[in-house]
Amino acid sequence: MLSPAALALLLALLRLVLVATATQCGRGQKLVFVLAGQSNMAGRGGAIGGRWDGEVPPQCRASPSILRLSAGLQWEVAREPLHADIDVNKTCGVGPGMPFAHALLLWARARARRPPAIGLVPCAVGGTKIEEWGRGTALYEGMVRRARAAGGKLAAVIWYQGESDTVLREDAEAYGGRMERLIRDLRADLGSPELLLIQVALASGEGKFTKLVRQAQKTIKLPNVAFVDAKGLPLEADHLHLTTQAQVHLGRMLADSYLHHQESNM
Ligand SMILES: *[C@@H]1O[C@H](CO)[C@@H](O)[C@H](O)[C@H]1NC(C)=O
Repeated sequence: MLSPAALALLLALLRLVLVATATQCGRGQKLVFVLAGQSNMAGRGGAIGGRWDGEVPPQCRASPSILRLSAGLQWEVAREPLHADIDVNKTCGVGPGMPFAHALLLWARARARRPPAIGLVPCAVGGTKIEEWGRGTALYEGMVRRARAAGGKLAAVIWYQGESDTVLREDAEAYGGRMERLIRDLRADLGSPELLLIQVALASGEGKFTKLVRQAQKTIKLPNVAFVDAKGLPLEADHLHLTTQAQVHLGRMLADSYLHHQESNM
């Protein structure tokens, strides 16, 4: 017979082993994506005029296979609006993150593969210029902290930003250089020199230099930078934000881009 003290010790050890195993499994299987940028990444689908209409298409529904890292750095089942506790000063709606994750799950299931758990790390904040995302800024350091806290396999950073850099010519002209620096810094600070970055080319802008920013996005001269073009997708009445259906479409395009990149690297 074990003494109560020995039994307690044994149970404590057992619990430790179980927790460690569960954590490791969770980490090993989770495919992690950082979602960063400004409002169209944070999601404004159905959320114009300070209210979200609450419409969640099937491609955006919660699933036990899709998790999100909360503002408090806890993994939880992801649901719309994905950025609600991150982009806290704005009304968030549907963004591209959930439909992106669903498209990946669909792809895996269609091939009878056990779908991986997908871990989304929302980081986007509305109305932010790329300058506000440079190394040393609160946004940049927050993104790096969250990506590190996520653990798992960091699969890609998905970046949708630049509308705020279309107002001043000097911002638009500096965009390409700032984006390249951001990608280099991020890869260095995350210890992932090959890290895939998928950028969304702007569908809209806040100013008249959208073309210049799009041109900069198209001509990033770094390896492992993919490009998905949102131009032409339906916009809300503000002519700035993608509609819910447009975000569903964008999510699918992002998944195609990611999967294409995986295939061409195998
Ligand atoms: C929200 O607003 C507060 C007060 O202006 C500011 O300090 C904070 O950085 C903002 N947070 C985000 C995520 O925009």
